[in-house]
Amino acid sequence: MKKIYPQDLQKLKDVGKKFATITAYDYTSSKIVNDIGFPVVLVGDSASMVVYGYKDTTPVSMDEMMFVLRSVIRGNSSSLIVADMPFMSYQPSIEEAIKNAGKFIKTGANAVKIEGGSAQSKTISRLVSSGIPVMGHIGLLPQSINATSGYRVQGKDEFSANEIIQDALDVERAGAFSIVLEGIPGNLAKIISRKIKIPTIGIGSGPHCDGQIQVFHDLLGIDKTFNPKHSKKFVNSYELFFNALKNYKNDVEDLKFPTIEHYINLSKDIEDKITENN
Ligand code: KIV
Repeated sequence: MKKIYPQDLQKLKDVGKKFATITAYDYTSSKIVNDIGFPVVLVGDSASMVVYGYKDTTPVSMDEMMFVLRSVIRGNSSSLIVADMPFMSYQPSIEEAIKNAGKFIKTGANAVKIEGGSAQSKTISRLVSSGIPVMGHIGLLPQSINATSGYRVQGKDEFSANEIIQDALDVERAGAFSIVLEGIPGNLAKIISRKIKIPTIGIGSGPHCDGQIQVFHDLLGIDKTFNPKHSKKFVNSYELFFNALKNYKNDVEDLKFPTIEHYINLSKDIEDKITENN
């Protein structure tokens, strides 16, 4: 499979072909994503919750993101690998942003994602001029939930909808190669996707975005209690895993596993000699 670059995503938008993208956080899931041929894999800061068990995305650190990024890179040779910049790895200063994004790129990521629209346009522009492709992220910004009072759909009135359109224009002008539109009304996402030339990638923002992004664990239904409106469980893995692991536990306890297919024995004569001395 050929390696995907930002220009390939642009070509998909230019010919009107929708695309699906997904997050991954480890070698094994990254290999599956690679084999299916997802054009983009996001090493999302949602790792904060699904890998590290924090309550939201604000606590995860550069080191923790680096750990998951390395294993995703080892499992994937074709997708465009986007590393999510964790909270406070780019907000303090542009220098800090370049230093931290540079660490991800030197490790093998192909691009970084940062949250924020017009307010981050200078940072995006400096990253891009430093040779670092940037995916923007506007609308609902999970790293800002303390400021926005939780996870709320953004851009529901005329003023804030216009602000989000301006964010999209500024992020595009700053040189981002694509923009995540998270948690905005579907018809607003449609207007933005028509207005800007770079691909929009939606989550909870309807079908008119050029691409979609979803969290690996949400699509596979790995967490039985987490059912976000923006996602769909394509399989109930919690139940599959639960039953399989319970069967394993029961089989060991009932002496049904392991059986002779799962191990080998010494030949009879060696066994007899060893048994004699033991
Ligand atoms: O970290 C994440 O999972 C994201 C989403 C856009 C899927 O940023």
